[in-house]
Amino acid sequence: MMRLLMFAALLVTVHCKELFKGHQVLQIIPKNDAQLAFLKDLEDVLEFELDFWKGVTAVSCPVHVRAPFQFLQLLKRMLKRKDISYVTMIDDLQAVLDEEQKEIELFARSLKPKNTDSFNYSRYHKLSEIYSFQDMLVAENPNLVSKIVIGQSYEARPLSVLKFSTGGTNRRAIWIDTGIHAREWITQASGIWFAKKIVTDYGRDPILTDILNGMDILLEIVTNPDGYEYTHSTNRLWRKSRKPNPRSNCIGVDLNRNWDSGFGGPGASSNPCSETYHGPRAHSESEVKSIVDFVKTHGNIKAFISIHAYSQLLLYPYGHTRNPAKDQTELDSLAQKAVKDLASLYGTRYRYGSIISTIYQASGGSIDWAYDQGIKYSYTFELRDTGRHGFLLPSSQIIPTSEETWLALEAIMDRTLKDPF
Ligand SMILES: *[C@@H]1O[C@H](CO)[C@@H](O)[C@H](O)[C@H]1NC(C)=O
Ligand SMILES: [Zn+2]
Repeated sequence: MMRLLMFAALLVTVHCKELFKGHQVLQIIPKNDAQLAFLKDLEDVLEFELDFWKGVTAVSCPVHVRAPFQFLQLLKRMLKRKDISYVTMIDDLQAVLDEEQKEIELFARSLKPKNTDSFNYSRYHKLSEIYSFQDMLVAENPNLVSKIVIGQSYEARPLSVLKFSTGGTNRRAIWIDTGIHAREWITQASGIWFAKKIVTDYGRDPILTDILNGMDILLEIVTNPDGYEYTHSTNRLWRKSRKPNPRSNCIGVDLNRNWDSGFGGPGASSNPCSETYHGPRAHSESEVKSIVDFVKTHGNIKAFISIHAYSQLLLYPYGHTRNPAKDQTELDSLAQKAVKDLASLYGTRYRYGSIISTIYQASGGSIDWAYDQGIKYSYTFELRDTGRHGFLLPSSQIIPTSEETWLALEAIMDRTLKDPF
C-alpha cells in the first residue's frame, strides 16, 4: 500500500511539470540586414512559442532560441528558405532537464545540512533550502550578518536581504541582487556562495576586511521567490514573476523591465504573454517596489549590482537610451579592471560596455533606475556561459563561476570604498 501511494505521489509530481520533450535550442547567426530583420520579426510572433534565450541584436551576433516540438520543423524550414544558417545547441532539452532534476532529488533526500559548513555549495538548491541556509548563516554569525525582510512577493513569500555589517550607523552600502529572473539558477547559487565567502574571508582577506570595515554589503539572493519556486515545481524555464495579468491568460511580469527608467519604451513588451512584459506601470510589482522603497529609505547605497545569466558580460547604464551615462569613462575603466580580475582565475572571458551598446536596448531595467538615483557604481553581470548550456549550466560550474565573479565584485566594491563621494 505504502509503495503504491509513493508511486502515485511520484506520478502526480511528474504530471504537474511542464515537459520540454522534443524541444531544441538553436543558435542562429544572421549574416545580413535582411536576415536580421526576419529574425526580429520572428521575435514578435508569440504564436510560435519561441523562447529567445539570447535575443536578436546585430548582424553576426548569435541568437539562441528554444523552439517547441510542434514548431521546430516549421522554424527550420523557414530558416532554410531564407538561407539563414543555424546549429543545434541543445538537441534534447528534456534529457538535460531530467539529468538536472535527478541530481536535485537525490540530494534533497539526503540529510539536511546542520550548518553552513556542511552545506553543499556545488549544487542547485530548492527555495526552502536557501531560506534555511540564510537562517543558519545569520545564527552562526550574529555579529556580522542579519536578515532584513523588505517586503512580500505576490504569493506572500518573504523578500529577504542579508545585511553584512561590522557596525556603524547608516554606513555606505553595496547592493547585490541575484535571481531576479527565476531560471538563471547560476545566479542564486552564486549568491549563496558569496554570502558564505563574506563571512569566511572577513578578517582574513585584507581587501574584503577593509570593505566591510567601511561599508555594509546588502545581498538579496532570491529576488524573485515565486518564480524560483515555480522553476522547481512546474517550469524550469520560467523567467518572470507569478502575478496573474488581468484580461490575459498569461502570467507574470519581467521584473527587469518594471523599473521607472525609460519604463515602457523600446526593449520591453506591452504584451503580458511576452517574456519581457513590463507590467501595467512602473514599480507595479512588489518584488521591485520593495527594493525601490528600501534603497530610497536607506539613502546611502553607493553601488548597485544586479546579477543575471547568461552571456559573460559586465554592463553599465544605460539600457534605455543611447545617451552615455555621465560617469561612462570611469564605469568603463572599472569594468575593464573587473573583467580582467575575473579572467585571471580560469581565463573566462567577459565583454563589457553599456547595456544598449553591448547587448540591446532594454527599458525599465534596474541598474538604469539605480544610476538615476545617484548610485554611480551601477552594474549588471551576465554570468557563464556563452550558450553551450545556457540557463542549464551544470552544477560542477557553480563554484568556479562564483569564485571568478567574486574577484570582479571585489574590484567594484574596492573602488566604491575608495570613492570620496
Ligand atoms: C555536492 O553536490 C555535488 C553535485 O550534486 C556532488 O557531486 C557532490 O558529491 C556533493 N558533495 C557532497 C559532500 O555531498
Ligand atoms: Zn536575466
